[in-house]
Amino acid sequence: MDKDNAIEVTSVSKSFRINAGPTSLKDMIVYRKAHSKKYHPKRKVLDDVSFSVKKGEVIGIIGRNGSGKSTMLKLLSGILRPDTGSIDVDGKISCLIELGAGFHPDMTGRENVYINSSIFGVDKKTTEERFQQILDFSEIGGYIDERVRNYSSGMYLRLAFSVAINVDADILLIDEILAVGDINFSKKCLDKLRDLKAHGVSIVIVTHAVDMAKEMCDRVIWIEGGQIKAEGDPEEVCNQYVEFMGV
Ligand SMILES: Nc1ncnc2c1ncn2[C@@H]1O[C@H](COP(=O)(O)OP(=O)(O)OP(=O)(O)O)[C@@H](O)[C@H]1O
Ligand SMILES: [Mg+2]
Repeated sequence: MDKDNAIEVTSVSKSFRINAGPTSLKDMIVYRKAHSKKYHPKRKVLDDVSFSVKKGEVIGIIGRNGSGKSTMLKLLSGILRPDTGSIDVDGKISCLIELGAGFHPDMTGRENVYINSSIFGVDKKTTEERFQQILDFSEIGGYIDERVRNYSSGMYLRLAFSVAINVDADILLIDEILAVGDINFSKKCLDKLRDLKAHGVSIVIVTHAVDMAKEMCDRVIWIEGGQIKAEGDPEEVCNQYVEFMGV
């Protein structure tokens, strides 16, 4: 692995089996449809994708719905494994991939901060020391002692983002969810991301907000139909994408 790189993705492909509708118990027993490849054909979601992320670089991933962006991020985070190809990572990863993922709905915000931090490898004592800082950044105040089941989308994001930026990660993966923050919090998140970048953190952001991608990213990768359609200067790649989408 190149010592300047935080992530190297080499010829990665990923397919999922498509669930072709409900299979009844009778189908399963009599026809064994549940295990039939005919009823669960494979769909290739990523096809021979290669790219790298330099240390301290901010990469944007754009592309239409269903193009494979979130799948790519899940592969980077290790939630999914590629069918073929390889992903090499140098550094500790923190991720914000799905709203509420890693949060237990029946526990309080406070309890979830501890659980979530421990998932990212931070011990209890360190989380205790950072707790106030996490709470202050989130600005959710007294809600911290309520069950997160009752949180609004923005409150989930606020707490999850605050945890994700406080786990000493070298690489931060963010999927779209910043979009649910209000204008104040969105600005605060973007300022924080710039600050992290300045401290050498590598960031991969999946987004539909092309203006944000143009402003924030050093490089943008456009995925179309599971393949890289264009990669390079954010302004150029975003403009190509917007034109392609016919907006
Ligand atoms: N676990 C899964 N099982 C089966 N198919 C899946 C699974 N996860 C994703 N897919 C399929 O993979 C394709 C790409 O999905 P993905 O979530 O990566 O798209 P995306 O680019 O993030 O889209 P969006 O902009 O809507 O978030 C879609 O066709 C989706 O249905
Ligand atoms: Mg997605």
